[in-house]
Amino acid sequence: MSHVPVLLEEVLEALQPTDGETYVDGTFGGGGYALRVLEAADCHLIGIDRDLDAITRAEALAEQQPRLTPLLGRFGDLDELLEAEGVSEVHGVMLDIGVSSFQIDESDRGFSFMRDGPLDMRMGQTGPGAADVVNHMSAADLTTILRQLGEERQARRIAGAIVARRKTEPFETTLDLANCVEHAVGGRRGKKTHPATLTFQAIRMYVNDELGELARGLAAAERVLAPGGRLVVVTFHSLEDRLVKQFMRERAGATGGGSRYMPEAAKGPAPSFDLKRRKATEPGEEEISQNPRARSSRLRVAVRTDAPAWTDPVDTGKSVPPLKTLEVAL
Ligand SMILES: C[S@@+](CC[C@H](N)C(=O)[O-])C[C@H]1O[C@@H](n2cnc3c(N)ncnc32)[C@H](O)[C@@H]1O
Repeated sequence: MSHVPVLLEEVLEALQPTDGETYVDGTFGGGGYALRVLEAADCHLIGIDRDLDAITRAEALAEQQPRLTPLLGRFGDLDELLEAEGVSEVHGVMLDIGVSSFQIDESDRGFSFMRDGPLDMRMGQTGPGAADVVNHMSAADLTTILRQLGEERQARRIAGAIVARRKTEPFETTLDLANCVEHAVGGRRGKKTHPATLTFQAIRMYVNDELGELARGLAAAERVLAPGGRLVVVTFHSLEDRLVKQFMRERAGATGGGSRYMPEAAKGPAPSFDLKRRKATEPGEEEISQNPRARSSRLRVAVRTDAPAWTDPVDTGKSVPPLKTLEVAL
Protein backbone atom coordinates (compact mmCIF):
# COMPACT_ATOMS: atom_id res chain seq x y z
CA MET A 1 0.00 0.00 0.00
CA SER A 2 1.22 3.54 -0.62
CA HIS A 3 1.22 6.49 1.78
CA VAL A 4 -1.63 9.01 1.41
CA PRO A 5 -0.19 12.44 2.31
CA VAL A 6 -2.29 14.40 4.81
CA LEU A 7 -3.22 18.10 4.60
CA LEU A 8 -1.39 18.18 1.25
CA GLU A 9 -3.10 21.25 -0.24
CA GLU A 10 -2.71 23.14 3.05
CA VAL A 11 0.99 22.25 3.24
CA LEU A 12 1.52 23.51 -0.31
CA GLU A 13 -0.30 26.73 0.38
CA ALA A 14 1.75 27.25 3.54
CA LEU A 15 5.08 26.58 1.83
CA GLN A 16 4.36 28.71 -1.28
CA PRO A 17 6.94 27.06 -3.55
CA THR A 18 8.64 29.60 -5.82
CA ASP A 19 10.84 29.17 -8.90
CA GLY A 20 14.57 29.13 -8.22
CA GLU A 21 14.29 28.51 -4.45
CA THR A 22 15.50 25.52 -2.41
CA TYR A 23 13.25 23.60 -0.02
CA VAL A 24 13.80 20.75 2.42
CA ASP A 25 11.41 17.90 3.08
CA GLY A 26 12.83 16.49 6.33
CA THR A 27 10.47 13.48 6.27
CA PHE A 28 10.48 12.33 2.63
CA GLY A 29 8.54 9.07 3.26
CA GLY A 30 6.76 8.21 0.02
CA GLY A 31 7.55 11.62 -1.48
CA GLY A 32 3.91 12.75 -1.47
CA TYR A 33 4.72 16.33 -0.37
CA ALA A 34 8.05 16.50 -2.17
CA LEU A 35 6.71 15.62 -5.61
CA ARG A 36 3.88 18.15 -5.36
CA VAL A 37 6.33 20.90 -4.38
CA LEU A 38 8.54 20.04 -7.36
CA GLU A 39 5.48 20.17 -9.63
CA ALA A 40 4.29 23.49 -8.20
CA ALA A 41 7.47 25.45 -9.01
CA ASP A 42 10.79 25.15 -10.83
CA CYS A 43 12.54 24.77 -7.47
CA HIS A 44 15.06 22.43 -5.90
CA LEU A 45 14.02 19.99 -3.17
CA ILE A 46 16.27 18.18 -0.71
CA GLY A 47 14.45 15.08 0.56
CA ILE A 48 15.75 13.74 3.88
CA ASP A 49 14.66 10.53 5.60
CA ARG A 50 16.33 8.37 8.23
CA ASP A 51 14.86 5.25 6.63
CA LEU A 52 16.97 3.69 3.89
CA ASP A 53 13.83 2.29 2.21
CA ALA A 54 12.46 5.84 1.80
CA ILE A 55 15.76 7.12 0.43
CA THR A 56 15.96 4.21 -2.01
CA ARG A 57 12.50 5.27 -3.30
CA ALA A 58 13.69 8.89 -3.48
CA GLU A 59 16.78 7.88 -5.45
CA ALA A 60 14.63 6.06 -8.01
CA LEU A 61 12.45 9.21 -8.34
CA ALA A 62 15.53 11.45 -8.60
CA GLU A 63 16.58 9.57 -11.74
CA GLN A 64 13.53 11.10 -13.46
CA GLN A 65 13.56 14.35 -11.48
CA PRO A 66 16.99 16.02 -11.32
CA ARG A 67 15.69 18.84 -9.06
CA LEU A 68 15.30 16.28 -6.24
CA THR A 69 18.32 15.53 -4.00
CA PRO A 70 17.76 12.57 -1.61
CA LEU A 71 19.75 12.49 1.65
CA LEU A 72 19.84 9.69 4.21
CA GLY A 73 19.87 11.09 7.74
CA ARG A 74 17.86 12.58 10.57
CA PHE A 75 16.19 15.95 10.34
CA GLY A 76 17.61 16.71 13.79
CA ASP A 77 20.95 17.00 11.96
CA LEU A 78 19.42 19.16 9.23
CA ASP A 79 22.02 21.92 9.28
CA GLU A 80 24.99 19.50 9.23
CA LEU A 81 23.40 17.47 6.41
CA LEU A 82 22.88 20.63 4.34
CA GLU A 83 26.35 21.93 5.10
CA ALA A 84 27.84 18.70 3.78
CA GLU A 85 25.95 19.39 0.52
CA GLY A 86 27.30 22.96 0.40
CA VAL A 87 23.85 24.46 1.15
CA SER A 88 23.86 27.22 3.77
CA GLU A 89 20.31 28.56 3.46
CA VAL A 90 16.90 27.29 2.32
CA HIS A 91 13.51 28.89 1.73
CA GLY A 92 11.30 26.35 3.38
CA VAL A 93 11.43 23.30 5.65
CA MET A 94 8.57 20.77 5.80
CA LEU A 95 8.27 18.14 8.53
CA ASP A 96 5.52 15.51 8.50
CA ILE A 97 6.11 13.82 11.83
CA GLY A 98 5.50 10.14 12.50
CA VAL A 99 5.67 6.89 10.60
CA SER A 100 4.66 6.28 6.99
CA SER A 101 2.12 3.72 5.84
CA PHE A 102 5.01 1.92 4.13
CA GLN A 103 6.62 1.40 7.53
CA ILE A 104 3.41 0.37 9.31
CA ASP A 105 2.32 -2.01 6.57
CA GLU A 106 5.66 -3.80 6.43
CA SER A 107 5.35 -6.45 9.17
CA ASP A 108 9.14 -6.96 9.21
CA ARG A 109 9.58 -3.45 10.61
CA GLY A 110 7.63 -4.39 13.75
CA PHE A 111 5.58 -1.19 14.14
CA SER A 112 2.14 -2.71 14.29
CA PHE A 113 0.36 -4.89 16.83
CA MET A 114 -2.05 -5.84 14.03
CA ARG A 115 0.66 -7.79 12.19
CA ASP A 116 3.08 -10.27 13.65
CA GLY A 117 6.70 -9.42 13.02
CA PRO A 118 10.02 -8.93 14.78
CA LEU A 119 9.70 -6.41 17.63
CA ASP A 120 11.80 -3.68 16.02
CA MET A 121 10.05 -0.27 15.45
CA ARG A 122 13.21 1.55 14.35
CA MET A 123 12.62 4.04 11.54
CA GLY A 124 16.32 3.95 10.73
CA GLN A 125 18.51 0.88 10.55
CA THR A 126 20.74 1.61 13.56
CA GLY A 127 20.59 1.57 17.37
CA PRO A 128 18.55 -0.51 19.83
CA GLY A 129 15.09 -1.71 18.78
CA ALA A 130 11.83 -2.25 20.67
CA ALA A 131 12.82 -5.81 21.74
CA ASP A 132 15.96 -4.40 23.40
CA VAL A 133 13.82 -1.90 25.33
CA VAL A 134 11.28 -4.41 26.64
CA ASN A 135 13.87 -7.14 27.33
CA HIS A 136 16.45 -4.97 29.13
CA MET A 137 15.02 -1.84 30.72
CA SER A 138 14.11 -1.81 34.40
CA ALA A 139 10.44 -1.80 35.42
CA ALA A 140 10.90 1.76 36.73
CA ASP A 141 12.32 3.04 33.42
CA LEU A 142 9.64 1.21 31.41
CA THR A 143 6.97 2.79 33.61
CA THR A 144 8.45 6.25 32.98
CA ILE A 145 8.54 5.68 29.21
CA LEU A 146 4.94 4.41 29.07
CA ARG A 147 3.73 7.27 31.24
CA GLN A 148 5.65 10.08 29.60
CA LEU A 149 5.44 9.08 25.94
CA GLY A 150 2.23 7.04 25.91
CA GLU A 151 0.32 8.84 28.66
CA GLU A 152 -0.65 5.27 29.57
CA ARG A 153 -2.57 5.22 32.85
CA GLN A 154 -1.72 1.59 33.57
CA ALA A 155 1.99 2.14 32.96
CA ARG A 156 3.19 0.50 36.18
CA ARG A 157 0.99 -2.56 35.76
CA ILE A 158 2.08 -3.06 32.13
CA ALA A 159 5.77 -2.54 32.93
CA GLY A 160 5.48 -5.11 35.75
CA ALA A 161 3.87 -7.64 33.41
CA ILE A 162 6.59 -7.08 30.80
CA VAL A 163 9.37 -7.67 33.33
CA ALA A 164 7.64 -10.80 34.74
CA ARG A 165 7.09 -12.31 31.29
CA ARG A 166 10.65 -11.76 30.04
CA LYS A 167 12.03 -13.74 32.99
CA THR A 168 10.66 -16.91 31.41
CA GLU A 169 11.00 -15.97 27.74
CA PRO A 170 12.36 -12.81 26.12
CA PHE A 171 10.06 -10.85 23.81
CA GLU A 172 10.71 -11.42 20.12
CA THR A 173 7.61 -10.43 18.19
CA THR A 174 5.00 -7.67 18.05
CA LEU A 175 2.21 -10.09 18.97
CA ASP A 176 4.22 -11.31 22.00
CA LEU A 177 4.14 -7.78 23.36
CA ALA A 178 0.58 -6.99 22.28
CA ASN A 179 -0.73 -10.16 23.99
CA CYS A 180 1.24 -9.50 27.18
CA VAL A 181 -0.19 -5.97 27.45
CA GLU A 182 -3.70 -7.21 26.70
CA HIS A 183 -3.46 -9.77 29.52
CA ALA A 184 -1.93 -7.24 31.92
CA VAL A 185 -4.86 -4.85 31.61
CA GLY A 186 -7.51 -7.58 31.74
CA GLY A 187 -8.43 -7.90 28.05
CA ARG A 188 -10.16 -5.51 25.67
CA ARG A 189 -13.20 -4.76 27.86
CA GLY A 190 -15.26 -3.76 24.85
CA LYS A 191 -12.94 -0.91 23.91
CA LYS A 192 -12.51 -0.04 20.23
CA THR A 193 -8.77 0.57 20.44
CA HIS A 194 -6.35 -2.26 21.17
CA PRO A 195 -5.10 -2.15 24.79
CA ALA A 196 -1.49 -2.10 23.52
CA THR A 197 -1.96 1.06 21.43
CA LEU A 198 -0.35 3.47 23.89
CA THR A 199 2.40 1.02 24.84
CA PHE A 200 3.39 0.62 21.18
CA GLN A 201 3.25 4.39 20.66
CA ALA A 202 5.47 5.05 23.70
CA ILE A 203 8.08 2.44 22.80
CA ARG A 204 8.19 3.58 19.17
CA MET A 205 8.64 7.20 20.25
CA TYR A 206 11.36 6.14 22.66
CA VAL A 207 13.29 3.90 20.25
CA ASN A 208 13.36 6.68 17.65
CA ASP A 209 13.79 9.54 20.16
CA GLU A 210 10.92 11.21 18.32
CA LEU A 211 10.39 14.17 20.65
CA GLY A 212 14.16 14.79 20.91
CA GLU A 213 14.44 14.70 17.11
CA LEU A 214 11.53 17.09 16.73
CA ALA A 215 13.08 19.54 19.21
CA ARG A 216 16.46 19.36 17.45
CA GLY A 217 14.84 19.57 14.01
CA LEU A 218 12.92 22.75 14.87
CA ALA A 219 16.06 24.45 16.17
CA ALA A 220 18.05 23.30 13.12
CA ALA A 221 15.34 24.63 10.78
CA GLU A 222 15.55 27.98 12.56
CA ARG A 223 19.29 28.09 11.76
CA VAL A 224 19.00 27.20 8.06
CA LEU A 225 15.90 29.16 7.02
CA ALA A 226 16.49 32.38 5.08
CA PRO A 227 14.49 35.47 6.13
CA GLY A 228 10.96 34.98 4.77
CA GLY A 229 11.54 31.20 4.66
CA ARG A 230 8.71 28.98 5.90
CA LEU A 231 8.63 26.31 8.55
CA VAL A 232 5.71 23.95 7.90
CA VAL A 233 5.09 21.17 10.43
CA VAL A 234 2.42 18.46 10.46
CA THR A 235 2.02 16.37 13.62
CA PHE A 236 -0.27 13.47 14.59
CA HIS A 237 -0.04 13.56 18.30
CA SER A 238 -0.81 16.11 20.99
CA LEU A 239 2.65 15.73 22.59
CA GLU A 240 4.26 16.70 19.29
CA ASP A 241 1.79 19.44 18.45
CA ARG A 242 2.33 20.98 21.89
CA LEU A 243 6.09 21.05 21.29
CA VAL A 244 5.71 22.71 17.87
CA LYS A 245 3.18 25.21 19.20
CA GLN A 246 5.39 26.17 22.14
CA PHE A 247 8.48 26.49 19.94
CA MET A 248 6.73 28.71 17.41
CA ARG A 249 5.04 30.89 20.01
CA GLU A 250 8.24 31.30 22.00
CA ARG A 251 10.37 32.14 18.97
CA ALA A 252 7.69 34.60 17.80
CA GLY A 253 7.84 36.34 21.19
CA ALA A 254 4.23 35.42 21.90
CA THR A 255 4.73 33.67 25.25
CA GLY A 256 4.64 36.80 27.38
CA GLY A 257 7.71 37.67 29.44
CA GLY A 258 8.47 41.22 28.40
CA SER A 259 6.51 44.43 28.50
CA ARG A 260 7.35 47.66 26.75
CA TYR A 261 8.47 49.09 30.10
CA MET A 262 11.19 46.43 30.48
CA PRO A 263 14.79 47.32 29.63
CA GLU A 264 15.67 45.99 26.12
CA ALA A 265 18.25 43.49 27.47
CA ALA A 266 15.68 41.85 29.77
CA LYS A 267 13.20 41.20 26.94
CA GLY A 268 15.25 38.34 25.48
CA PRO A 269 16.26 37.75 21.86
CA ALA A 270 14.37 39.34 18.97
CA PRO A 271 11.65 37.09 17.49
CA SER A 272 13.14 34.69 14.93
CA PHE A 273 9.71 33.71 13.55
CA ASP A 274 6.41 35.39 12.69
CA LEU A 275 3.26 33.36 13.28
CA LYS A 276 0.86 33.43 10.38
CA ARG A 277 -1.91 31.88 12.44
CA ARG A 278 -2.07 31.26 16.15
CA LYS A 279 -4.26 28.18 15.67
CA ALA A 280 -3.31 24.92 14.04
CA THR A 281 -4.96 23.95 10.75
CA GLU A 282 -7.00 20.75 11.01
CA PRO A 283 -8.20 18.44 8.22
CA GLY A 284 -11.74 18.90 6.93
CA GLU A 285 -14.51 16.27 7.21
CA GLU A 286 -13.99 15.21 3.60
CA GLU A 287 -10.28 14.45 4.07
CA ILE A 288 -11.03 12.54 7.30
CA SER A 289 -13.71 10.44 5.61
CA GLN A 290 -11.32 9.57 2.77
CA ASN A 291 -8.29 9.06 5.00
CA PRO A 292 -9.18 8.32 8.66
CA ARG A 293 -5.44 8.46 9.55
CA ALA A 294 -5.65 12.23 8.96
CA ARG A 295 -8.04 12.71 11.88
CA SER A 296 -5.49 13.79 14.47
CA SER A 297 -3.20 15.72 12.10
CA ARG A 298 -2.39 19.37 12.83
CA LEU A 299 -0.49 21.81 10.66
CA ARG A 300 1.46 24.78 12.02
CA VAL A 301 3.35 27.38 10.01
CA ALA A 302 5.83 30.09 10.94
CA VAL A 303 7.80 32.49 8.75
CA ARG A 304 11.46 33.20 9.52
CA THR A 305 12.33 36.80 10.35
CA ASP A 306 15.78 38.30 9.75
CA ALA A 307 16.70 38.12 13.47
CA PRO A 308 19.48 35.69 14.46
CA ALA A 309 18.50 32.14 15.44
CA TRP A 310 18.05 31.73 19.20
CA THR A 311 20.68 29.75 21.02
CA ASP A 312 18.42 28.24 23.71
CA PRO A 313 17.88 24.51 23.22
CA VAL A 314 14.26 23.44 22.64
CA ASP A 315 12.74 21.59 25.61
CA THR A 316 10.70 18.46 24.83
CA GLY A 317 8.84 18.90 28.12
CA LYS A 318 9.31 15.17 28.83
CA SER A 319 11.96 13.37 30.81
CA VAL A 320 12.78 9.78 29.90
CA PRO A 321 15.93 7.71 30.58
CA PRO A 322 18.45 8.42 27.79
CA LEU A 323 18.56 5.80 25.03
CA LYS A 324 22.35 5.75 25.55
CA THR A 325 21.85 3.96 28.88
CA LEU A 326 20.32 1.07 26.99
CA GLU A 327 23.05 1.13 24.30
CA VAL A 328 25.68 0.74 27.04
CA ALA A 329 23.77 -2.10 28.72
CA LEU A 330 23.48 -4.13 25.50
C1 LIG B 1 4.53 10.50 7.87
S1 LIG B 1 5.89 10.00 6.90
C2 LIG B 1 6.12 11.27 5.73
C3 LIG B 1 5.27 11.12 4.51
C4 LIG B 1 5.52 12.14 3.43
N1 LIG B 1 5.18 13.48 3.84
C5 LIG B 1 4.74 11.77 2.18
O1 LIG B 1 3.92 12.58 1.75
O2 LIG B 1 4.96 10.68 1.63
C6 LIG B 1 7.24 10.26 7.98
C7 LIG B 1 8.61 9.87 7.42
O3 LIG B 1 9.56 10.59 8.19
C8 LIG B 1 10.65 9.77 8.49
N2 LIG B 1 11.22 10.28 9.73
C9 LIG B 1 10.66 10.28 10.95
N3 LIG B 1 11.48 10.86 11.84
C10 LIG B 1 12.58 11.26 11.14
C11 LIG B 1 13.78 11.94 11.50
N4 LIG B 1 14.01 12.31 12.75
N5 LIG B 1 14.66 12.22 10.53
C12 LIG B 1 14.42 11.85 9.23
N6 LIG B 1 13.32 11.17 8.85
C13 LIG B 1 12.41 10.89 9.78
C14 LIG B 1 10.07 8.39 8.61
O4 LIG B 1 11.08 7.43 8.36
C15 LIG B 1 8.97 8.41 7.54
O5 LIG B 1 9.46 7.93 6.32
